[in-house]
Amino acid sequence: MHDRLRALHDRLDAHGQAHVLRFADALDDASAAAFADELEALDLPRLSRLIDSVLGHAPEEHAGDLAPPEMIDWGVDDARDAAARAAGAELLAAGKVGAFLVAGGQGTRLGYDGPKGRYPIGPLTRRSLFAYHAHRVLATSRRYGAALPFYVMTSRANHESTVAAFEEAGWFGLERDQVFFLVQGMLPAVDRDGKLLLADRGALSMSPDGHGGCFRALDVSGALDDMASRGLEQLFYFQVDNPLAQVFDPLFIGHHVQAGAEMSTKVVEKSDPGEKVGVLARRDGRTCLLEYSDLDAELAAARDDDGRLRFRAGNIAIHVLDVGFARTIARQGELPVHRADKKVPCLDEQGTLVQPGEPNAIKMEMFVFDALPLAERSVTQVVPREDEFAPVKNAEGQDSPATSEAALVDQAKRWMEAAGLQPPSGPAEVGPLFALDQASFRDNLTRSDLGPVFDRPA
Ligand code: UD1
Repeated sequence: MHDRLRALHDRLDAHGQAHVLRFADALDDASAAAFADELEALDLPRLSRLIDSVLGHAPEEHAGDLAPPEMIDWGVDDARDAAARAAGAELLAAGKVGAFLVAGGQGTRLGYDGPKGRYPIGPLTRRSLFAYHAHRVLATSRRYGAALPFYVMTSRANHESTVAAFEEAGWFGLERDQVFFLVQGMLPAVDRDGKLLLADRGALSMSPDGHGGCFRALDVSGALDDMASRGLEQLFYFQVDNPLAQVFDPLFIGHHVQAGAEMSTKVVEKSDPGEKVGVLARRDGRTCLLEYSDLDAELAAARDDDGRLRFRAGNIAIHVLDVGFARTIARQGELPVHRADKKVPCLDEQGTLVQPGEPNAIKMEMFVFDALPLAERSVTQVVPREDEFAPVKNAEGQDSPATSEAALVDQAKRWMEAAGLQPPSGPAEVGPLFALDQASFRDNLTRSDLGPVFDRPA
């Protein structure tokens, strides 16, 4: 066996994982060296802890009583909103906020070949999800006169094609040094006994560690140091799948900083008990998120006296994170891992690749919202769904390209009407470089802008 692999045997054995070297004798030098790199990079004590917890060997945490969170509703207190908006705008103009896009997911449900951010969602221009987000970063930078940085998290599988999408589009008009890519970490898949699985004779079966892996990735990539050198104080976190995400929304940033919060969340009113969104709650004096897959059916369906769902604060996965808080989580915190039972092709004991028909493996993932209970203060801000949430998740039906495009068209038509224009009977589209919101849409109109596409070059 290759020397470096032999040297790893005892360490692996101490954690019950020496079986991964079973076929190592057959590896050529290059494959053995690559395998040694992969195994040496594993933090085995941490991995054993994570495996124990997904196998249910870790002590159960005290559940505590659940209550709905306090929420800041939109459009209720104009003076309070105006003050928050001004506070957010001030921070943006001082260049103290960065955008943070998580785009490392595999997009399996959508069935799209390539990073989801490349998906052409613009109803008429076919502009991509990446273009929507990057153009909002650019338009906000112009509005506030500060080159706001854009951090983009990818994963190993989609990193190169994501960078290529930005390069091909001339960085969407952003300065090259405004964009910082970071690659999220990976975690191995295990079988039901907690044994690491082999994808190959010289490779473990690995997958992205979930968006909760972003804290560690921000640290090891140097992004946190980059933020420190730019004097950033807050990070605006959002997911790639939502073209309506109001990146750098000054109102939300303002409410968050005015409350001295460490991590805040935007929510929409959950439409029905079965909607696949997590809901925010309070437990033991802290804000937390109950994921839809874990939410007890009775709690999901409980209603207040006015008939609205009691747990209705539907997570749209848009957060503001205090940079110092993100650093603390990255360096001192350990988010819990969640278990996903999946079909993972792997080698059997004879070294033959098996394609399982049933889930055979446990994948481990961390979720960003598990940082919420670690925050002492947190704002939950309710926003109108039609203006802020239209994700592309499934190929058809709910949360599909069709529903997302329809929401973009509806918004464009609402803005046209409010500005006194007659909307077309077919689709309409407003690019972020034309207007970021209804007020700027009206202000930016010139006599030649009649639609159906409202856009400006980068
Ligand atoms: C997610 C939230 C849910 C919320 C909903 C709103 C989770 C577990 N749940 O559900 O509470 O109501 O969005 O739309 O996230 N990603 C990575 N790396 C990974 C995995 C995912 O960057 O390893 C990114 C994806 O690229 C995507 C986002 O995270 O941008 C969401 O992931 P997804 O698995 O689609 O979450 P949902 O089940 O839709």
